[in-house]
Amino acid sequence: MMQARLTPANIEWRNDVPYSVDFDDIYFSRQDGFEETRYTFIDGNQCIERWKNYNKSCFSVIELGFGTGLNFLSTLWHWQQFRPDNTKLIYRSIEKFPLTHQDLTKAIQLWPMFNTLAPPLIEHYPLPLQGIWKIAFPELGAELHLMWMDVQDALHHIHSNNIKADAWYLDGFAPAKNKDIWQQAAFNTLSMSSYPEATLATFTAAGFVRRGLMEAGFNIEKRKGFGQKREMLIGKIATPDNASEDRRNTSQQKPTLNKKIPAWYQPPTLKKTINSIAVIGSGIAGATTAQKLAEAGFTVTVFDQASTIANGASGNSSGIYYPFLSKDINLTTQFFLNAYHRLLHDLGYYDLNQYSHSVGVLKLCESKHQAEDLINAYSEKPPLTDVASSNDMPTSTTQDANRWFTIEKATFKSSEKNTERWGVLFPKSGYLSPQSICTQLLNHKNITLKLNHKVIQLKRLREQWQCAVNDYSSEVTTEKQLSFDAIILCNSFDADALLPDSFLPAIKVRGQTSYLSESDIENEDKTSFRELVELNDSVICDHIYMFLENEYFHNKNTQKKHSKNKKRLYLGATFEQDSAEEKLLQKSQQNLLSQFEALSGIKTKSDKALNGRVGFRYCSVDRLPMVGPVPNAFEYLNNYRQLWKGAPEHRFSTSEYWPGLYINIAHGARGITSSFLSASLITEYLSGAEFSLTNRLVQAVHPARFLIKELKKHPSARLAKVKQLSTALTHSD
Ligand SMILES: Cc1cc2nc3c(=O)[nH]c(=O)nc-3n(C[C@H](O)[C@H](O)[C@H](O)COP(=O)(O)OP(=O)(O)OC[C@H]3O[C@@H](n4cnc5c(N)ncnc54)[C@H](O)[C@@H]3O)c2cc1C
Ligand SMILES: C[S@@+](CC[C@H](N)C(=O)[O-])C[C@H]1O[C@@H](n2cnc3c(N)ncnc32)[C@H](O)[C@@H]1O
Repeated sequence: MMQARLTPANIEWRNDVPYSVDFDDIYFSRQDGFEETRYTFIDGNQCIERWKNYNKSCFSVIELGFGTGLNFLSTLWHWQQFRPDNTKLIYRSIEKFPLTHQDLTKAIQLWPMFNTLAPPLIEHYPLPLQGIWKIAFPELGAELHLMWMDVQDALHHIHSNNIKADAWYLDGFAPAKNKDIWQQAAFNTLSMSSYPEATLATFTAAGFVRRGLMEAGFNIEKRKGFGQKREMLIGKIATPDNASEDRRNTSQQKPTLNKKIPAWYQPPTLKKTINSIAVIGSGIAGATTAQKLAEAGFTVTVFDQASTIANGASGNSSGIYYPFLSKDINLTTQFFLNAYHRLLHDLGYYDLNQYSHSVGVLKLCESKHQAEDLINAYSEKPPLTDVASSNDMPTSTTQDANRWFTIEKATFKSSEKNTERWGVLFPKSGYLSPQSICTQLLNHKNITLKLNHKVIQLKRLREQWQCAVNDYSSEVTTEKQLSFDAIILCNSFDADALLPDSFLPAIKVRGQTSYLSESDIENEDKTSFRELVELNDSVICDHIYMFLENEYFHNKNTQKKHSKNKKRLYLGATFEQDSAEEKLLQKSQQNLLSQFEALSGIKTKSDKALNGRVGFRYCSVDRLPMVGPVPNAFEYLNNYRQLWKGAPEHRFSTSEYWPGLYINIAHGARGITSSFLSASLITEYLSGAEFSLTNRLVQAVHPARFLIKELKKHPSARLAKVKQLSTALTHSD
């Protein structure tokens, strides 16, 4: 099992060069790290030469050992000058012991030529948590995928996702000091994951590395090493024509890695070219999905039954975003941290920061102890002392305020009357306008938006999906039949009605918000209310959340009017599982006001007017969204009926889905955070691209997970819905 939390690099700075205490080795040459990188890896792989006449859409580098990022930044620096037109650089780098943010920043500062290239890396540099973290450099047509995991796990991911390299940079520490990275199984995977013409370069000339790479199927040459180094290795993947007879035989016997993706989670094979895609729903899930599909080159039609964009749960004037953390780092927290990283990244990438206010979110905790636990769980270095027994809170997890993930100790005191509460502050979090964001995302040349269009039925017909759509856009409603190669259901709790028999357990949960202004406050508390407003700029989050919402912030041009007086205190939101009432309810508002009073000690007037908005969340039982292909329940129940007996996974046939049918639903109470990453995942399924999540996280949000969980139980112990489904499907056969 992979560890969620990684151990950061134990660095000492010796004459301005980082030195690894644990591996007793340096990260780069004391003589000239930049020249060393250029000589060893960039020239070693003949990158600049190859870029001159390059005509593929992507140049893929895979590096073993990210370290300080010097190799990456040097490659980007050269790419900036010599990049071929219409080609993207994808640079994947594997690292098990990431530098702390502070050490990384210090290392990068050694190279002034990276001043303009490095900021995105410094801003989005991930936490030392296992995962795949993407950082885009859009102006340079480049992407960095940081694979924070052991090299063996990363190579497994690379192989199982069919990722291939044009150039390998083998830059683990010296083989004598770090055997883990230099293994025959790793060399074999490099060879299996190489494009024809792929090259490799490494600073070492160790005999067993040379022999191992040759055995794996590379033609290897020795070359003079950089500076004092006598020799290094460069290589090229052997083709059947130029491989020696011995090597040809060996490469045929290459041990294949166990792909380890269970049969029931194998992604669908894309059988035909997808020309047209329908996205149903223009909320945050639909808009992000449509944008990412359109960006990937698909032609997308977005249908929404409402007359305006994002009129469902995403129609609140504001929604807050912050990472969902728990003391124990589990799949849910990992997913939401990845999603939060992607959200902050994409707000910049799609120029959406104009619709967000990163005023900070202060998440209140039950006790000081709980706040400490949270900070410790996500700090870069494990605590050196037992902070629980000390009176001081641990310091914040980062010194760099520009970084995406910052968490700080904080307290909340609304007024003299109220006691102090401990919490953790996320300075980069805040609130944003989902509707404005959806509107901007849907404005793309590859997207056709059809408002007032309700999809009422889906039918599989001649290798396509036929959508029956009610068009309400004119006075007379018309029904249209429209065909698409693929359908993405982003219509939240309404998805079930359009899906074939399925088991996707989720519930609809009503939420009501309200707004407070000074006139809603009892006279004796008006001063306290003003204090609360003056003292707290950030979102305060307890059982409810509250923040000063700038009424004008949806309209960029009127933002100049921004002033405290033009703000209202936004209160959100009730969580009601037993009500389907669409109108505002007095009792729901009262519930919010009582919680506000308990939190702030401030009394509101008993005759406060009813205001706010009602929406419905769609919440899955495990609080994760459902993102991916729709399983064919009959085939699943049939193929995996023996699963509960514990038969080995390889005995089962691969999963069967409804071809071209996908869902991106059940974003629960955190759709703003979860949507951007989920949209990427859907796009990766449809384009056959590698997943930007680890396989475990892809499976954690896979729509078949609930069915599989049931099938692993004894038939008599399964949920009634699954039993019914089994019976219904058997009878309809
Ligand atoms: C009161 C409240 C407060 C919330 N606060 C926050 C918050 O602060 N932060 C946060 O992250 N999340 C918050 N959430 C949750 C968040 O709003 C949701 O997770 C998110 O909006 C879900 O987005 P969605 O696109 O999946 O669904 P929706 O926004 O509901 O979009 C579904 C769309 O599908 C359309 N549709 C449905 N059926 C059809 C059909 N057959 N044909 C055509 N169109 C169809 C609907 O009209 C709708 O526009 C809150 C939710 C509520 C209710
Ligand atoms: C020489 S340094 C890499 C230098 C780096 N390329 C740079 O530009 O700074 C070697 C790196 O390999 C990493 N490493 C060592 N063992 C590893 C393993 N088993 N899996 C992944 N990374 C590993 C180390 O943490 C270290 O960062």
